Amino acid sequence: MTDVVTTRAELAAVRKTLPGTTAVVMTMGALHDGHRQLMRAARGHADHLIVTSFVNPLQFGPNEDYDRYPRTPEADLRVCREEGADVVFAPSEEEMYPDGDPVVRVEAGPLGEVYEGASRPGHFTGVLTVVCKLFQLTRADLTFFGEKDYQQLALVRRMVRDLNIPVDVRGVPTVREPDGLARSSRNRYLSEDERAAALALSRALRRGADRHTAEEVLAVAGQVLAEHPAVRVDYLALTDPLLGPPPAAGEARLLVAARVGTTRLIDNVAVFLGS
Ligand code: PAJ
Repeated sequence: MTDVVTTRAELAAVRKTLPGTTAVVMTMGALHDGHRQLMRAARGHADHLIVTSFVNPLQFGPNEDYDRYPRTPEADLRVCREEGADVVFAPSEEEMYPDGDPVVRVEAGPLGEVYEGASRPGHFTGVLTVVCKLFQLTRADLTFFGEKDYQQLALVRRMVRDLNIPVDVRGVPTVREPDGLARSSRNRYLSEDERAAALALSRALRRGADRHTAEEVLAVAGQVLAEHPAVRVDYLALTDPLLGPPPAAGEARLLVAARVGTTRLIDNVAVFLGS
């Protein structure tokens, strides 16, 4: 049985009835197989699962897609039921921000200003503020975030350490379409031609990840992207796993963001350098 609650008071009441450990999976709805995978991982590691569904206005820039972001509440509820969620928390904007935009926020710091943060000023402060609020409201013991949004995962881990939030953060590998495209709620914006062009992102990352020096990884991935003029690259970057400069050898991360038509897409993969 999945309880659907929309207020903080209802959530607190139902949370009290859940014995043992509780995991939270936070989403903006428009659920797909990537979200399902987070729910499955959570069900495997905790006694209970709370899924939150809230399109957070605080993390969208003025010219971004807040208004047209897909909203599919009935289908989402079916997914949550199928994946065995105990509770779905789907608050209104008024319920999450009863006093309007919060005056006090969780500042993402320098890690929030590079890559995604450079293109989307204030985005990660908006994300961390709502994630922090949802940790407080759900009192979850564990939480599962997708590697698809690699910088977001890194920042949530950092917030939890820096602010001593008592929750265990776990990363879940990116779920892809059979042809390699990373699943995303925004994929539904793509026309057929745009979707074909969007495949260049995952292909570039895969080809790059076959190489073993930073220069080669970036050159090979960059070449694949350059073959697709419909893909307008925002950044292609190689970092260490914590988003610092890449190591000469060992684990690294290759990240890409690009616009295809009016849709902004991101993807990333692990890379092993030096052997
Ligand atoms: P949303 O984009 O709905 O994503 C919710 C969670 O699903 C995130 O942890 C994201 O990384 C994960 N996810 C999305 N696509 C995935 C895929 N293909 N494979 C694996 N995991 C995937 O991220 C957000 O919402 C918001 O910023 C949120 C954290 C809810 C705060 O508002």
